[in-house]
Amino acid sequence: MKKRVLSGIQPTGSPHIGNYLGALKNWAKIQYDYDSIYCIVDLHAVTTYQNPAELSAKIQELAGILLAIGIDKNSLVLQSRVPEHAELAWLLTCVTPVGWLERMTQYKAKSEAQESIGDGLLQYPVLMAADILLYQADVVPVGDDQRQHVELTRDIAQRFNSLYPEHGETFTMPATHLPTVGARIMGLDDPEKKMSKSEPGAGHSIGLLDPPDPIRKKIMRATTDSKPAVAFDDPGAGVRNLLTIYQAFTESTNEEMRARFSGMRYGDLKKQVAEAVVAGLEPIQKSYREITVEQITEAFNLGSARAEHIAHHTVEKVKRAMGLYTG
Ligand code: TYM
Repeated sequence: MKKRVLSGIQPTGSPHIGNYLGALKNWAKIQYDYDSIYCIVDLHAVTTYQNPAELSAKIQELAGILLAIGIDKNSLVLQSRVPEHAELAWLLTCVTPVGWLERMTQYKAKSEAQESIGDGLLQYPVLMAADILLYQADVVPVGDDQRQHVELTRDIAQRFNSLYPEHGETFTMPATHLPTVGARIMGLDDPEKKMSKSEPGAGHSIGLLDPPDPIRKKIMRATTDSKPAVAFDDPGAGVRNLLTIYQAFTESTNEEMRARFSGMRYGDLKKQVAEAVVAGLEPIQKSYREITVEQITEAFNLGSARAEHIAHHTVEKVKRAMGLYTG
């Protein structure tokens, strides 16, 4: 029996190279080593207001991108199509202390940025725990910013297992899987800030569907520092970020990186990074253009049917453990 891998991405904004290098590239790479389930988490997206027409367009676009990077059509799940995500989230809400949720750094950042906070924003990590535990995932490939949420998932699973031990352990304990290079890609305009879908600045991120010339322009304008050339052992944050982007796209070794870039002037470094990004995205963009609406519908049907089967089984197990009537 293969172990199970599960991960998710929100259909808000457009996916960028941070999402790709931190998570999606890994999803594609490990998908056949595991029994894999990858969710477009639309129920998470609506924890902050989304324009309905834009949201449904973004869901389609993201599904097309995931298929274009090679995610198997049997592995793609639209979260809202499987009602057990929400059902398990409620059951887990009931065993989760509110203090655990208030401590989450993403909740703090997002709630500070808003005047009125929906309850869903606080519950966000419980829904994420439900995504993971619903499929009894062994491995969760994510970027560094989701590490705290996977830790919380483990805490919730442990608490549930110890509160309701009568039928044995209900949940599998998931492990975080981070990429060795690219777990935290920073903004090009501000290398102290994580690259993010919700950051408005035009020079902040590179979208997976950005055409070559705007990609080159954004990288040539990326913030570095006042040194003239790459000090490989102690690069500033901006240069380190560019080196990371190059290394993650080209899968170069540390030795290759040192040999290529030590002492290189920033202008030349940027040109090489830009070409590596353009070349890395080209095949994705080409397959994206060939994906049809029918393929997306087929993937959602196949993936959701397979997921529902597993999800139903887990929810029955959870209900039994809690003493709810299962018929
Ligand atoms: P989301 O949609 O913000 O991001 C999707 C994935 O991309 C990673 N990521 C990054 N990696 C490196 N550098 C960056 N700048 C960067 N920005 C984003 C994220 O770590 C993530 O892996 N809560 C999740 C979605 C989710 C989920 C789940 C993930 C819902 N349920 C269950 C795993 C398992 C989120 O908002 O990801």
